[in-house]
Amino acid sequence: MQTLTDSVAVVTGGSSGIGLATARALACEGARVALVGRSAERLEAAQDAVRVEARGAHLAALALDVRMEADMGTMAERVLERWGRIDVFVAAAGSAGSTAATRGLPHAVADLSPREWDEVIDTNLKGVFHGLKAVLPAMMERGGGEVVCVSSARGALVGLPYNGAYSASKHGLRGLCACLAEEVASHGIRVQSVLPDVTDTPMMQATRSMAPDGLLDPRQVAATILRLILAPDDALLIDPLLAPFPPSGSGPRAATIG
Ligand SMILES: NC(=O)c1ccc[n+]([C@@H]2O[C@H](COP(=O)([O-])OP(=O)(O)OC[C@H]3O[C@@H](n4cnc5c(N)ncnc54)[C@H](OP(=O)(O)O)[C@@H]3O)[C@@H](O)[C@H]2O)c1
Repeated sequence: MQTLTDSVAVVTGGSSGIGLATARALACEGARVALVGRSAERLEAAQDAVRVEARGAHLAALALDVRMEADMGTMAERVLERWGRIDVFVAAAGSAGSTAATRGLPHAVADLSPREWDEVIDTNLKGVFHGLKAVLPAMMERGGGEVVCVSSARGALVGLPYNGAYSASKHGLRGLCACLAEEVASHGIRVQSVLPDVTDTPMMQATRSMAPDGLLDPRQVAATILRLILAPDDALLIDPLLAPFPPSGSGPRAATIG
């Protein structure tokens, strides 16, 4: 894309962390942005936060669950009713598991309940699938679009001990993005992903048991997503790993997400 002015973007997970920072960055560039999350209260607060920097921004708050196919259909319907198009889809909604049940400590695979497995896979992998299925027809009809999936450096490339479901979901997401990128390229739809290292968000704060030495700021991830969307039309960034710079000393990271 050359410019985001008057474009229409959907950001799942737009009420917190990386998704919120991305919604703010897109709105500051002139995009109309639909923020998707389950909590209406968090979405309300997120809209206020975006408007602090993007005054007069055109925003929509959609309290919907990415795990539900019907909800993602509703998401696309409402955005199209309101703005008539979908140019950008950023899949940032994510779950690291039921941390409340473990007082913030991640689970070993041997202790992982099928329920927690389902929650993480359904959110991080199936939820992206539902979202893509919902927005792709509108992009195909218009003959173009930008998709960015928020993956994970450690989750997608290596595997995080004690975060088996999370790692499985992000490995799966990497495969999904790779396939889709080829499938929809002929429709002018570019599918890219970003693989952030550990980022200072509510998810990280809720799940970490050992603090890493260096953290990304969600704004750094958002700025990278913006660059992916605005990258030259004839270029594709596959699996860019985003890490803090300069690198900090090696600290214990095994049990953190990222
Ligand atoms: N933080 C890190 O270190 C890190 C590193 C690499 C990758 N990531 C990835 O970055 C993405 C964003 O994570 P974050 O750290 O920014 O987390 P976060 O601050 O906890 O935000 C998660 C967002 O996802 C939404 N969400 C969760 N489940 C949902 C569902 N079922 N339906 C709709 N929305 C849902 C949340 O809103 P509601 O709860 O209101 O639904 C919230 O807006 C995730 O995919 C995560 O895996 C994070």
